[in-house]
Amino acid sequence: MTTDFDHIDFFSDASLLDDPYPYFEHLRAKCPVTPLPHHGVMAVSGYDEANYVYFDSDTFSSCNSVIGPFATFPEPLVGDDVSDIIERHRHQLPMNEHMVTMDPPQHTQERSVLMRLITPKRLNQNEDFMWRLADRQLDELVADGHCEFITAYSQPFAMLAVADLLGVPESEHPRFRQGFGLAGTAGELGATDGPGLNALNWLDDYFATYIEDRRREPRNDVLTDLALATYPDGSTPEVTAVVRTATFLFAAGQETTARLLAAAMRHLCEHPELQDELRARRELIPNFIEEALRIESPVKADFRLAKRAATVGGVDIEPGTPVMLLNGAANRDPRRFECPAEFRLERPNAREHIAFGRGPHTCPGAPLARAEGRISIERILDRTRDIRLSEEHHGPAGARRFEYEPTWVLRGLRKIHIEFTPVDDDGASRRRS
Ligand code: HEM
Repeated sequence: MTTDFDHIDFFSDASLLDDPYPYFEHLRAKCPVTPLPHHGVMAVSGYDEANYVYFDSDTFSSCNSVIGPFATFPEPLVGDDVSDIIERHRHQLPMNEHMVTMDPPQHTQERSVLMRLITPKRLNQNEDFMWRLADRQLDELVADGHCEFITAYSQPFAMLAVADLLGVPESEHPRFRQGFGLAGTAGELGATDGPGLNALNWLDDYFATYIEDRRREPRNDVLTDLALATYPDGSTPEVTAVVRTATFLFAAGQETTARLLAAAMRHLCEHPELQDELRARRELIPNFIEEALRIESPVKADFRLAKRAATVGGVDIEPGTPVMLLNGAANRDPRRFECPAEFRLERPNAREHIAFGRGPHTCPGAPLARAEGRISIERILDRTRDIRLSEEHHGPAGARRFEYEPTWVLRGLRKIHIEFTPVDDDGASRRRS
C-alpha cells in the first residue's frame, strides 16, 4: 500500500500514529521547511531550521505553541506585522494562562519565578527522593513478574517526582495518586491530546491554600520558597499566577516523561543484550536516555505563529503562518545525526537532540526528566532480569503490535505490557516457579 503523503492530513489521519517517521522523511526530502495542504501550516522537519525558529522568539510567537493551527482569532491575521492582533486576542486562546504560550516580557517574568524553584540544590534533593520513589514503585510490582509498565510505574513515578519538586509532603502522596487516578488500581487518565488540567481543579485549590498559608506564615520549606518568589523587578506575583506555574508542571512533566520511560522500556525489551550491557556499564545509562529522547521524541510537534515575514532555510514564511516544529523529525535529520533511524547507545552527539525544545522556552524540567529516566532504568535493571514484551499483549517477535496515543502533539505508547524475572537487590535470582 502506498500512502499519499502529499495530501495526508497530519492532524487527523490515524495512519500516521503508529509510525510517523516515513512521513517525516518525506517532508524533509521535499524541503526541511515545507507548506502542508491543511490549516495553512508550514512544517519544519530540519534540525537547523527548527533551531532557528526556536531561538527567534522576536519573530515567532508562542501563543499557539500547544494548539498549533487551531488557535483562531476573531479578526484575520493580515498585515506586515500581526503582533498587535495577537496581543489583542491572545487572552482568548486556550492555555493562554500558562507560560508555554507566553511571549516576552510576560514569559520572562513567569519563567523567572519557576527558575527560583528549579535550582541545583532543589534538584539534588529531588533526586534523593527519586531513588526512594523508584524502589517504592518497584516494590508494588516486581514480585508479580509482569505489569503494564505505564500505569504501574511511569505515570505514578513521573507525577510524584513533580509533586516532590514542588514540596508536596510524602504523607500527601496517596492523595495525589488518588486525585490523578493513579492509585495503584489506577483507571485511565483522560485524553492526552493536549495537557488539559482544567478537570483537576482540586490541584489549583490545593496549591492556592498552601501558597496563601505560606505567605501568611512562612516556613522553611519548598512551598514557602515558591510562595515568596518575586518577579525580577521585586514585585510579588498574584497567588493565581504561582498556582498556575505549579499545576502546569504536572501537565508538562507527567505524560512526556511517562512516555519517555515507556519508549526506553520498549527498546530494552527489543534489544535484550542491552540490558546486561547497561548493567555492566552504568555510565552509559545517561546516553541511553538521550538516545531514547532523540529517536522517540515525546513532544513530536511544537508550534509557533509568525508575527512578521521571515525566511527560514531559504523558504519565505508569511506573517500569520502557523509554524509546526517537528522535533521528532528534526531529531532524525541525517545532516545532524549519522544513520538517524539507528539507536546507537554510544552516539557521541545524542544529547544535541531538541526533544526539550530550544531557546527561551527550552524545557526547564529537562534535568528532572533526565534524572527520572536514569534512576528508573538503573533500579529496574537492578531488580529484574530478562525483561521482555508480553507476547499475549504485543504479539511474537517479528509481528509485534503496539498502540500509540492518538494525538498530534505527543508521541507515546498507550500501553506496554512487560514480563521479567524478579531478583533480590543483591542480584540473586528469585525465580518464580
Ligand atoms: C521527557 C520529558 C519532557 C519532554 C520531552 C519535554 C519537552 C518540552 C518541550 C519541547 C518544551 C518546549 C515547548 C515550547 O517551546 O513551546 C517544554 C517546555 C516546558 N516543560 Fe518540558 N518536557 C519534559 C519534561 C518536563 C518536566 C519533568 C517538567 C517539569 C517538572 C517540564 C516542564 C516544562 C515547562 C514548565 C515548560 C514551559 C517552559 C516555558 O514556556 O518557558 N517538562 N518541555
